Amino acid sequence: MINNANLKFDENGVPYSSDFDDIYFSKKDGIAETTYVFLKHNGIPSRFKNTGCFHIAETGFGTGLNLLVTWQQLNQANQSNPSPVKLKFTTFEKYPLSKSDLTSTLSAWPEFKSLSVQLLNAYPEKLLDDNTMILENGNVELRLIIGDVNESITNLVVSNNEVDAWYLDGFAPSKNPDMWTEHLFNNMRRLTKEQGTIATFTAAGHVRRGLITSGFDVVKYKGFGYKRDMVASRGILDRFESDSGK
Ligand SMILES: C[S@@+](CC[C@H](N)C(=O)[O-])C[C@H]1O[C@@H](n2cnc3c(N)ncnc32)[C@H](O)[C@@H]1O
Repeated sequence: MINNANLKFDENGVPYSSDFDDIYFSKKDGIAETTYVFLKHNGIPSRFKNTGCFHIAETGFGTGLNLLVTWQQLNQANQSNPSPVKLKFTTFEKYPLSKSDLTSTLSAWPEFKSLSVQLLNAYPEKLLDDNTMILENGNVELRLIIGDVNESITNLVVSNNEVDAWYLDGFAPSKNPDMWTEHLFNNMRRLTKEQGTIATFTAAGHVRRGLITSGFDVVKYKGFGYKRDMVASRGILDRFESDSGK
């Protein structure tokens, strides 16, 4: 059985999870946070060139904001790519938003209107355990896997285990300790290319150490906004000249 998220909205329309007592994204600026933490610290959009297909995987689809920001950057990059780069976006979600909550949440982002409309058209009223949505005329393939990521990821195979970049999202480890396990990190590493990268908003010591033990070479970076630190792959800001996020 699929359990939908129990959402509340604050006075600014920012969604808040009653299940986890945590927010889905920064009250200050959700788009800037996503761009800084997940895109910039995975070398995106610079990596959206000279490749046929780019595969991103994410823990916690939530409102889909990370997807929308990434998809918009892909479309911009493809305007100057000789042939379009395709995006595969595999994401895990234990408590998916109902279609009506997703519709309300996405209405807060007029800048993504044309993408949100496509996403909502493809988003099933009744989700299956494993949902594939073809978007952007086939240039974006969204795979939304419902259930606890620690279970769903265990035997998962994704096209030759070739994830290029991970968005390690999910509510804060202090609010959601069950998600941030070595089992998860080991399976993420198993699904990732040798040169694949990872970024997460948290700098919790056990997360950073767990990622290192599983084989990800990660270090601390300055966090977004008031957060002191975050964690991402070593050298990522030098490897890719990234113009996303300050
Ligand atoms: C901070 S929100 C993610 C925000 C999201 N990336 C976005 O763009 O809106 C964290 C998400 O992780 C999901 N989540 C938490 N624990 C999980 C688990 N064990 N397995 C799968 N999803 C989980 C929550 O339901 C929530 O949707």
